[in-house]
Amino acid sequence: MALITLRQLLDHAGEHGYGMPAFNITNLETLQAVMEAADRVNSPVLVQASRSATKYVDPIFLKHLFAAAIERYPHLPVCVHLDHGNELSTCLDAMNMGFSSVMMDGSLMADAKTPSTYEYNAVETAKVVRYAHDRGVSVEGEIGVLGSLETGEGEKEDGHGFDGKLGHDQLLTDPEEAVRFVKDTDVDALAVAVGTSHGAYKFTRRPDGDILAMNVIEEIHRRLPDTHLVMHGASTIPQDLQDLINAYHGDIPQTFGVPLEEVERGIKHGVRKVNIDTDIRMAMTGSMRKYLEENKSSFDIRAILKPGRDRTIDLCVERFERFGSAGQASRITPLSLNEMADRYRFKVMGRQVA
Ligand code: G3H
Ligand code: 13P
Ligand code: ZN
Repeated sequence: MALITLRQLLDHAGEHGYGMPAFNITNLETLQAVMEAADRVNSPVLVQASRSATKYVDPIFLKHLFAAAIERYPHLPVCVHLDHGNELSTCLDAMNMGFSSVMMDGSLMADAKTPSTYEYNAVETAKVVRYAHDRGVSVEGEIGVLGSLETGEGEKEDGHGFDGKLGHDQLLTDPEEAVRFVKDTDVDALAVAVGTSHGAYKFTRRPDGDILAMNVIEEIHRRLPDTHLVMHGASTIPQDLQDLINAYHGDIPQTFGVPLEEVERGIKHGVRKVNIDTDIRMAMTGSMRKYLEENKSSFDIRAILKPGRDRTIDLCVERFERFGSAGQASRITPLSLNEMADRYRFKVMGRQVA
């Protein structure tokens, strides 16, 4: 079994200067696509499921889907991560399902809508860290609220984010607070807010520094060189996929995502986990739309889903190659959760002695 923790995977990525695309999966085909792509380029895998994806697939089906992926590709290290856990019990459920990593998103209250206070976030995240590290499981925390610097709004499209306007003080992670948060919580990875948001409608123009604050990432990395940073809302919203969807009866107004060059810039400055969901949704549905239009008499589900899966494989291969994780899988020997738990215990003992 090649389950790997987020901590070990991102430590390796940090040591070798690459970034890991963290792909959201929502069904069998999206998971198959990620795994097949990783296998083609010998990349480790970081797959994540949101709460709504877990509900859609069903927790028991999801648990076994991930187990199947690991069994089918035993030579690939696979990190299984909970995306946007909203409270301790959700994170514990994921740990009980065998996830090797969880996100506790305490930037919002448990309703996943209302921005929280620093104290709430730090206390709730530290609680999750204590339970998780005891089992060897890694934890991603978040400081700063995701949302658009153009509009001041968090996205509503996929059920996360604040439903209203926020100021730049909330939409941009304060580097000083980030340092305090890492110290207070001992998280393994830190998601930061720099103007990205979930979904397709991130920017109304190709983003510059006014609306995508890569300089904030650089500053946080300068102050926290040993902390693995995470970019949420990092889909590029490829123009060819917008065009493909629109060519086949879609109606997506012109929009802009995070350019790959900006992600690469982030990777040079400590970004090790790059969250991608929307690009996969667009690759799947754009290709399926085309197939359906060109094959009006078809009703074979497999024939309809396959072009979506194939296009998603290409997308994932491109990300693995651009972020530098291609070629790294065979260079990693995953440690078990017990071994990781021992490491955390030694770390805590070391701190107590010092
Ligand atoms: O966190 C954002 C992801 O795109 C998940 O979205 O809740 O619709 O699965 P979802
Ligand atoms: P996108 O909507 O940009 O793909 O972001 C996904 C994400 O951040 C999941 O947590
Ligand atoms: Zn996210």
